[in-house]
Amino acid sequence: MGNEAIWQETITNGRFAGKTVVVTGAASGIGQATALRIAKEGGRVIAADISKGRLDVLVEENKSLALVPVAGDISTEETVAAVVSAAGGRIDALANVAGIMDDFAPIHEVDDELWDRVFRINVTALMRLTRAVVPLMLEAGTGSVVNVSSEAGIRGSAAGAAYTASKHAVVGLTRNSAVMYGPKGLRFNTVAPGPTFTGIEATFASQLATERLVPLMEANVPTPANASQLAASITFLLSDDGTNLNGAVLASDGGWSAI
Ligand SMILES: NC(=O)c1ccc[n+]([C@@H]2O[C@H](COP(=O)([O-])OP(=O)(O)OC[C@H]3O[C@@H](n4cnc5c(N)ncnc54)[C@H](O)[C@@H]3O)[C@@H](O)[C@H]2O)c1
Repeated sequence: MGNEAIWQETITNGRFAGKTVVVTGAASGIGQATALRIAKEGGRVIAADISKGRLDVLVEENKSLALVPVAGDISTEETVAAVVSAAGGRIDALANVAGIMDDFAPIHEVDDELWDRVFRINVTALMRLTRAVVPLMLEAGTGSVVNVSSEAGIRGSAAGAAYTASKHAVVGLTRNSAVMYGPKGLRFNTVAPGPTFTGIEATFASQLATERLVPLMEANVPTPANASQLAASITFLLSDDGTNLNGAVLASDGGWSAI
């Protein structure tokens, strides 16, 4: 399992030409790979992230690409408004990628502060930004949204209680929106990444989780993918090639979910 050693990203020229695409978490990992892939394929990317420093480096290193940085905490209405304003009245696609991990705690060890932070960033921020973007898509009669969940959004053995519940919530939000807005020309899909080499941080703080999850993971988890492999799955669903896909949960995980 895992084919990152032999896979090379191939740009589809013009796939996002003329499109404005919002990508959150654009300053690292899967979000950054997604933003770069879209921009290389002709899209104008509103690149949102809490790290102004890493966004500035991204823009500086890719001057030829149409990357519009918006720095701020995406769980605040202030940053949501700044993202919509930077787009300038039209958003063709939205990739909700920003997210954080938990500490693998099972429910009896859950810390309120971490639970709230995980839900605020993984779920509430995604809801708020999508709530602000959908009216523009309804006005245009078209739009594609990809929400990044996780293997933890489709199984119980990939993280702690908070992250697992938050990523299941992402799947639920995606499916509800697919049903609500499908007849209006909007598509909502989920990508559930397996392990991927990125900057995401996770501490394994729970002894129960270590005893229970580590053997399951050692038996099943595939070789981690590269962020650009996840960008390939996300941009497929974001682009017009995703036509006829609405409410799908695409496990991009080297086959883990098939086990
Ligand atoms: N890496 C994996 O193995 C993996 C597996 C499954 C799911 N995911 C999911 O993929 C998504 C991307 O994660 P990644 O692995 O690329 O991690 P990453 O840490 O490399 O990138 C996440 C980015 O989101 C940004 N961010 C965090 N909180 C933010 C906030 N409040 N406002 C704005 N930006 C914020 C960070 O600054 C960072 O640049 C996440 O939703 C994560 O849960 C990752």
